[in-house]
Amino acid sequence: MANDQWLKGPILVLGGAGKTGRLVAERLARAGRDVRIGSRQAQPAFDWEKPEGWAAVLTGMSAVYVAYQPDLAVPGAVETVSAFFREAIAAGVGMIVLLSGRGEPEA
Ligand SMILES: NC(=O)c1ccc[n+]([C@@H]2O[C@H](COP(=O)([O-])OP(=O)(O)OC[C@H]3O[C@@H](n4cnc5c(N)ncnc54)[C@H](OP(=O)(O)O)[C@@H]3O)[C@@H](O)[C@H]2O)c1
Repeated sequence: MANDQWLKGPILVLGGAGKTGRLVAERLARAGRDVRIGSRQAQPAFDWEKPEGWAAVLTGMSAVYVAYQPDLAVPGAVETVSAFFREAIAAGVGMIVLLSGRGEPEA
């Protein structure tokens, strides 16, 4: 993917049915962007606890907004999010935005 392709391609919004993700998804859609909601209820489904399903959700995505659940500070979160980032980059995602609290060392 060319360096700036992520500016134009489809965007995956994880937690896209939640508090922050829904706002991000709505604004992107209003701006004319192609948005995929990352949700356990979506098809394909996205679940942090089921990494075997991540590849299908990442297919064709150029950028990802990440709102991790339950919280970046819980044990194992850094490993899980890092594994997801590696898979996203391998799938061709060119930009990742991670929601975090101010001063959160895990982020
Ligand atoms: N809100 C803030 O201002 C803020 C600021 C800094 C950090 N954070 C942190 O960012 C994270 C998300 O915040 P939020 O307020 O946007 O979230 P939220 O509204 O509480 O929930 C976001 C979504 O997470 C999904 N979810 C729950 N368990 C999941 C799982 N196992 N796999 C995949 N998705 C799952 C749910 O989607 P489905 O049920 O559709 O799957 C839910 O809609 C939290 O860890 C929060 O502590 C939030």
